[in-house]
Amino acid sequence: MTGPSATGLSIEGLGHADRLRGAHLTARPGETVGLIGPNGSGKTTLLRCVYGTLPATSGRILLDGTDLARLAPRDRARRVATVPQDPDPDPDLTVRELVALGRSPHKRFWEGDTAEDLARADAALDRVGLGGLADRLCPTLSGGERRRALVARALVQGPELLVLDEPTNHLDIRHQLDVLALVRTLGTTSLLALHDLNLAAAFCDRIYVLEAGRVVTGGTPAEVLTPALISAVYGVDAEVAPHPRTGVPTVLYLPSPVPGQKTSTM
Ligand SMILES: Nc1ncnc2c1ncn2[C@@H]1O[C@H](COP(=O)(O)OP(=O)(O)OP(=O)(O)O)[C@@H](O)[C@H]1O
Ligand SMILES: [Mg+2]
Repeated sequence: MTGPSATGLSIEGLGHADRLRGAHLTARPGETVGLIGPNGSGKTTLLRCVYGTLPATSGRILLDGTDLARLAPRDRARRVATVPQDPDPDPDLTVRELVALGRSPHKRFWEGDTAEDLARADAALDRVGLGGLADRLCPTLSGGERRRALVARALVQGPELLVLDEPTNHLDIRHQLDVLALVRTLGTTSLLALHDLNLAAAFCDRIYVLEAGRVVTGGTPAEVLTPALISAVYGVDAEVAPHPRTGVPTVLYLPSPVPGQKTSTM
């Protein structure tokens, strides 16, 4: 195949009722692509359509040229892993067993965990800094530990595409930085919703901005994260300057609201 949809992720005119209105975006193989936008702008809706827990009502999602809607759920789960914004209630499993569930799409449904599955789970738990908690029951985890366990589960799934909805939610700053650095170093194409614009600038190759169900702009962090964009989309006055040590665009917020709040659509 040729063309932009032949490799990586290509989302074309993706819609879901009035919550997502024809979103277009791409992620090249290995790219880390961020989704930002206010509460209710459609980030989770878009990510759930990509992962397949919500049906798209228009458009298509191509991964390496394959329309994900044409795949059986199990085949889709082999190729796409998720860390959801609102995970299901904790199952009564050990943390190791929860993480090993990431291998399920690669096995027949009656197959239990093999020694290799459990070893992969342990390795993933080490990578997210939870090695010491493998034998604990899931309901005993803190919010941040639970989030990191879900990242570990996505890792053992060995996907072509990682879909992460606010993966830094509940994490302390050390683990926010570690989880996002881990996502980048995996080299797996990743699409992640983030609220922290500075983390998005530091860890994403490119960023798309959602507003009221539409992708209003996209580009590199330096292209997207301008005071004008932040004012238009969030109604917040901000300065953006290169980080003194890394050069990454860094957002400094001003406490007073912009008069009239949100004024325009980019
Ligand atoms: N089950 C549902 N039924 C009806 N509307 C819904 C449902 N779930 C979400 N919505 C609405 O769809 C819109 C988009 O929601 P979505 O969860 O995708 O936003 P989001 O960008 O992820 O927001 P947040 O930053 O708060 O996570 C919102 O207006 C929300 O109220
Ligand atoms: Mg959301």
